[in-house]
Amino acid sequence: MDVTITREPKVAKADHLFVLIAENSKPDVAVAAQAMKAIADAGFTGKAEESLTTVAGEPKKITLLGIGKQEAITIRILRTALYSVAKMAKKQRDRNIIVVLPYSVAKLDADATTRVAAAALSGSDYKYDTYITKKEDKSLPISAQFVPPEGVDAKRAKQLDLEAKAVAAGVRTVRDLGNAPGNLVTATFIGHRAEEVAKEIGIKCTVYGKREIEKMKMGGLLAVNKGSAEEPRFIVLEYAPRKATKHVALVGKGITFDSGGISIKPSDKMEEMKFDMCGAAAVIGTIQAAAMLALPVRVTGVIASTDNLPSGSAYKPGDIITTMSGKTIEIVNTDAEGRVILSDALHYASELKPDHIIDYATLTGACVVALASEAAGLFSNNDELAQKLIECGERVGERLWRLPEWDDYKELIHSEWADMKNSGGRWGGATTAAVFLKEFVNCPSWAHLDIAGTAYAEHETSREGRGATGAGVRVTVAFLESLARS
Ligand code: BES
Ligand code: MN
Ligand code: ZN
Repeated sequence: MDVTITREPKVAKADHLFVLIAENSKPDVAVAAQAMKAIADAGFTGKAEESLTTVAGEPKKITLLGIGKQEAITIRILRTALYSVAKMAKKQRDRNIIVVLPYSVAKLDADATTRVAAAALSGSDYKYDTYITKKEDKSLPISAQFVPPEGVDAKRAKQLDLEAKAVAAGVRTVRDLGNAPGNLVTATFIGHRAEEVAKEIGIKCTVYGKREIEKMKMGGLLAVNKGSAEEPRFIVLEYAPRKATKHVALVGKGITFDSGGISIKPSDKMEEMKFDMCGAAAVIGTIQAAAMLALPVRVTGVIASTDNLPSGSAYKPGDIITTMSGKTIEIVNTDAEGRVILSDALHYASELKPDHIIDYATLTGACVVALASEAAGLFSNNDELAQKLIECGERVGERLWRLPEWDDYKELIHSEWADMKNSGGRWGGATTAAVFLKEFVNCPSWAHLDIAGTAYAEHETSREGRGATGAGVRVTVAFLESLARS
């Protein structure tokens, strides 16, 4: 949805005006003065999920949507309301809508609320329909004028509009890449897409092919790639604004399809493993947003990409590989491939000596068992960084929940034959994966986000459609902004 934040919506152009209303409140909404007066008479109270539509003249329709108690408004409640706005508008084939939000989220100011809401509205009607060939099943583009809560003047509205568009564009990039099928999104494709985005935002992008990956001795990435008919890619994106004082490296897992390899997965839901590159996509989308926002922070994106397939040449349980760092890994499960390719990417990122390293990976089913899709697992060797990321997540509605990465767990990945083995078994699966990654990190401020449960929605929910969600972008943009301010 094309969203413009404005204090003065053009009513004559609109097919449908939506007003979000808290319980028993009568906000002063000039564009819907008539309807607002009639609220109580019509028996509308503003309870969550309550709605009332009236046929008006200009605009043609007015819908009031209840969002519950004003003091309890959360980002999540807004997302739910905005998602129903999009669904209604789509179904009714509205092309121009106005959305009025008269209140701020309880814990946010008007500016922050506006940005979060406008960005959420932008993605609310999103559907990956590239391969839907029936015209009537394709969604029509919708334009929205978003009227923010009081406290956002016309000048701020203009600035917030640019900011919301940057975040929305980054999220969009991730969703499109994630939802696209594995036969299209190969490692080569991710390389091209990274180059395309880099060109758009005017930053440097280097895509290394198999030969160069061999020269760099990235034994982890090469091992996972051995079973594939596709070449691997190692991608480095460099956003380096002149005024930057801090440097952050973002590292992404780019498994374009994870069959499990020789330790093959059950076929049920295996198709979901096309989303196993969502960490890589999050890196691209975040850098895109950071550059669009012109944040004064240096950001380097590091992506390792391949698919994970069984074949006569595939890596096998029992194999021992030597990674770029020189450390060796005994492979006990070829389905624990994410950490194997990340070993090289994290080592590479550490060599850059950034102030912070954050990695994004759909790494473990165990993390989904622990947190489902409500939060990403957060692992960090630095309390300050962990705390900051959690706070940033709260501010943008992307929950992170910290889990341990204590050295005590290292015993579980002890190998008789190599420096470590690539799986610690079932117990503490998300943590043993993080502890494995930590072996390749040489940076005092590192965080690992296990986004296996948050990167894509298995089913449609009240807040979003099925498929890639853009996990990682919003929280990281908020974090980079906090660095810019400090
Ligand atoms: N890509 C998967 C993790 C995953 C699972 C992501 C479910 C999204 C939803 C990862 O490569 C994997 O297969 N992990 C294994 C590790 C195990 C073999 C130690 C897992 O979680 O089962
Ligand atoms: Mn796997
Ligand atoms: Zn995987």
